[in-house]
Amino acid sequence: MDPTVLERAYTASLKKIRRNCDSIGVAFPHVANGPHGEYDREKPSFWTGGFWGGLLWLAYRETHDPKLLETACELETALDVPLDEYLHIHHDVGFMWMPTAVAHYRKTGCQAARARGLKAASHLMGRFNLNGRFLRAWNDEVYADSQGWAIIDCMMNISLLYWASRELHDPRFRQIAMAHADTVLESFLRPDGTVPHIVRFDPETGRKIENLGGQGKGPDSVWSRGQAWAIYGMAISYRETGCTRYLDAARKVAHTFWSALPDDKIPYWDFCAEGEEREARDSSAASCAASGMLEIAALTRDPEEKTFFTNCALEILQSLSEHYACFDDSTQGIIRAGTVSYPARRHINVPIIYGDFFFVEALGKWKGLPGLF
Ligand code: GLY
Repeated sequence: MDPTVLERAYTASLKKIRRNCDSIGVAFPHVANGPHGEYDREKPSFWTGGFWGGLLWLAYRETHDPKLLETACELETALDVPLDEYLHIHHDVGFMWMPTAVAHYRKTGCQAARARGLKAASHLMGRFNLNGRFLRAWNDEVYADSQGWAIIDCMMNISLLYWASRELHDPRFRQIAMAHADTVLESFLRPDGTVPHIVRFDPETGRKIENLGGQGKGPDSVWSRGQAWAIYGMAISYRETGCTRYLDAARKVAHTFWSALPDDKIPYWDFCAEGEEREARDSSAASCAASGMLEIAALTRDPEEKTFFTNCALEILQSLSEHYACFDDSTQGIIRAGTVSYPARRHINVPIIYGDFFFVEALGKWKGLPGLF
């Protein structure tokens, strides 16, 4: 690993976020697929609504540029619409309010931001299925009859519950987060250290019915971004509870992920992709896995494991910096070649806002700063 490559990538990313702050402003970008490489505009209730704000906070803590602060605060206020409307809210409230309101509260002590984070956490608690011991993912307006669906991505959302539990000195939030994480250990984690995207449970009895392919190739396949969510999310559960079963799971999925990567360390959208399917990479899975591996490295007490996962993460970040990053303005995205959903043919090999976010977050961890989840 060449530290000058990572140092340059970090500095150039922060500069680009400042330029993007002028051109993107108060909006909810998702993929940079415009004719001139510009980011699109999603509705605020979409699950990616927190990542642009998160990038602003990652850059603000380093630059103290007041424009970044002002834009991040305006974005947070704009997110009040879906928070208060409630009806379209799903389980992705952790992705939306951890890198925005909670980041704001942690940085400035703002009480309105704290209240937003707590409100979002309460919404997430309300999605708990008592018999199945899982958090419901989406509402019927997205997928009909999805009362029994849980998805691996939610391992990232439960960081909001751990935060709320500490904040309110109330174990209920943590208890529900751990119940969900334990269900993932039982019903998602396969013996080979991989996970499916979706598990369907009977919403009445809580019995597991089947795996579903979701954004992966199929029910038995290995969707790369899902593995990254599992690595990072399990590491968070270990950080917040001290229960080694979560660290064991994080390291198991991380080892399988690492050993299945192609030569340039950036996964295909699914590790089971074959032939021309392999043209679709998912750099966002690489960014998120790198950030998760740095989390494991920071938590483990085993010095060899610390070195191993630090080196894995930095190798991924170096490849992203040298072969996938764009620091000029030919696109507003920072990291090219992310894939939203290959099965739905939606946004293949394009910059995605969460790929950018986890790349900059991981580089920040390398510099000794905390992550936002
Ligand atoms: N949370 C949905 C995704 O990772 O695409």
